[in-house]
Amino acid sequence: MSLLQVEDVVVQFGGVTAVNHATFEVVAGSVTGLIGPNGAGKTTCFNVITGLQRPTSGHVRFDGRDITRTAVHRRARRGIGRTFQRLEAFGSLTVADNVRVALDIHEGFRGIFRPGDHDVDELLERVGIAEYAAERADSIPTGTARLLELARALACQPRLLLLDEPSSGLDEAETEAFGALLVELAGEGCTVLMVEHDMDLVMSVCDEIHVLDFGSVIAAGTPAEIRVDPKVQRAYLGYSDEGQGAHVAESLDETKVLAR
Ligand SMILES: Nc1ncnc2c1ncn2[C@@H]1O[C@H](COP(=O)(O)OP(=O)(O)OP(=O)(O)O)[C@@H](O)[C@H]1O
Ligand SMILES: [Mg+2]
Repeated sequence: MSLLQVEDVVVQFGGVTAVNHATFEVVAGSVTGLIGPNGAGKTTCFNVITGLQRPTSGHVRFDGRDITRTAVHRRARRGIGRTFQRLEAFGSLTVADNVRVALDIHEGFRGIFRPGDHDVDELLERVGIAEYAAERADSIPTGTARLLELARALACQPRLLLLDEPSSGLDEAETEAFGALLVELAGEGCTVLMVEHDMDLVMSVCDEIHVLDFGSVIAAGTPAEIRVDPKVQRAYLGYSDEGQGAHVAESLDETKVLAR
């Protein structure tokens, strides 16, 4: 069953068409990837889905309802959570307080009755950053800050979680644990839509992948299908940062798609 539908969405910024008649859907309970070269329109799609960007045309449906004109906070209440490509934590607060604030906002009046800090500790534990609880958010490594963003998003118990380049700054072991956590979350009913440049991560955890290039969806399918799709490889090879493009195309071509 489809939880999110992006239907024929166009976003224009003056003369720039950032999203060009993009149509894709996200199946409930899946980990879905949204990939594409730099400037392909991935973050703009996330902004349209969360309500930060009004599309020039097209529709967004969440759980069967048209939310194209629904306010950002109402979409969050309905269960759409996200993390940002540019980190957005409160730098002067501790890691634990950042999560506490997210929980307080989510729980509102009910939060008054929350017994102790059990939920905060549990969320930090879940994303693997409990040891940083007392540190200021602006003093922790980037990878840890990304996991903090994830903990804050999870505090709102989203049904759909949008992650914008969540693994940048994580080392290999952390990325592996992070991938396992995403699969676990999806299994618990927190559907994941992820923008990510780490192809090994994308290929190993995603059930389905949509590929954007110049704002259009050029391919959709399972990791195995996407990996061998010539259109996808061409898109990455034509990428302005040739070194990285070639690297991504190469990793797409490798036959080491991990079995789920
Ligand atoms: N607010 C804006 N005003 C004008 N142009 C914008 C704006 N936001 C994005 N763009 C342009 O829209 C296009 C898509 O940008 P977007 O940030 O969505 O790409 P992306 O796929 O997330 O790229 P990256 O992988 O680098 O994060 C780019 O050409 C970008 O310069
Ligand atoms: Mg982006």
